[in-house]
Amino acid sequence: MWIADMDFPSPPPIIEAIRQRVEHGIFGYAQPLASTIESVVAMLEERHQWKIDPSWIVWLPGLVIGLNVAARACAEPGEEILHFTPSLPPIIDAPTNGDRISRTVPLVLDSKNNSWEIDWAALEAAVTPSTRGLFLCHPHNPIGRVWRRDELNLIGEFCLRNKLYLCSDEVHCDLILDPALTHCPAGMLDSRLANRTITLISPSKTYNLAGLGTSLAIIPNDALRGRFVRAMSGVAAVTDPIGYVACEAAYRDCEPWRKELVGYLRSNRDYLVKLAHTELPMIKIEAPIEATYLAWLNVRELRLRNPAAHFIKHGVALNDGTPFGAPKGEYVRLNFACSRATLTEGLNRLKSAISSL
Ligand SMILES: Cc1ncc(COP(=O)(O)O)c(C=O)c1O
Repeated sequence: MWIADMDFPSPPPIIEAIRQRVEHGIFGYAQPLASTIESVVAMLEERHQWKIDPSWIVWLPGLVIGLNVAARACAEPGEEILHFTPSLPPIIDAPTNGDRISRTVPLVLDSKNNSWEIDWAALEAAVTPSTRGLFLCHPHNPIGRVWRRDELNLIGEFCLRNKLYLCSDEVHCDLILDPALTHCPAGMLDSRLANRTITLISPSKTYNLAGLGTSLAIIPNDALRGRFVRAMSGVAAVTDPIGYVACEAAYRDCEPWRKELVGYLRSNRDYLVKLAHTELPMIKIEAPIEATYLAWLNVRELRLRNPAAHFIKHGVALNDGTPFGAPKGEYVRLNFACSRATLTEGLNRLKSAISSL
């Protein structure tokens, strides 16, 4: 119940599209077909009301690669990029991988409203003359937070005021569990901000295609896109014929499947939250899981030096929260994109791991 992929097979239209492509039998270098690009453009417009120009798309062989390329495109060596913690570890690491500096701005838990919030004063205070960018995870892994339009507007104003680039990782945007919420792509907020924005998307999480890697950066500004393409030139290229075909079928043919998936994940989330509350009172889910299939569990009360190591001894593998920027021993991340039976079994094992203490 750790790495962020699902136990579910991909939707039948994707499997069928891949089968047909395999039967073609020729697997040389590939480029996306016009129909593949059309499926991305149509999905963004229909699902998120974001009208993009196809020329803004840069294909990527994975989103972690996209994050690392974005760090190199936004800042020079020695310059700084901000991110919010707790955070997906590759967001924290991408700047330093390329000799840029990664600067952390912790999110704060508003326990009155049960919500993780941006500390706007801390964000302003983190800016130095060398700051060039902000990496946003939207929706945010691991806390499952959907950033609202008013928050995004403030983030946009902050970036414009400080002349920062915004890299918005939106890979979880089609997994919003709260029916009252919608995803607002950062790149469509305001044309001035769009000129400073790199948006990362992929069918990988929603349709369980992470092993194929095929992903996209959407970069409206020609100069920024040029820098991004130069930064990946000769280092990362997508030529995977199967990945393109899977991406096209995912975005064009799988909307009923996606809706059903979101319903199943929502009911797993509700079950997890209820059970954690009634049966695992020493584990706290501190805020609503609005999106993703990941739960950020506060296990501080267990007073374990390494909770993930303890849980795995009892047969349940969770992520240790420390690489996400959490204090040692305080948090673990649980993936609930599995059958209800597996989730129940995992929670039973967590329960016995706790009773053994
Ligand atoms: C927000 C986010 N970005 C990127 C990734 C990884 O993407 P990829 O496997 O395409 O490198 C993940 C995986 O969990 C993720 O949650």
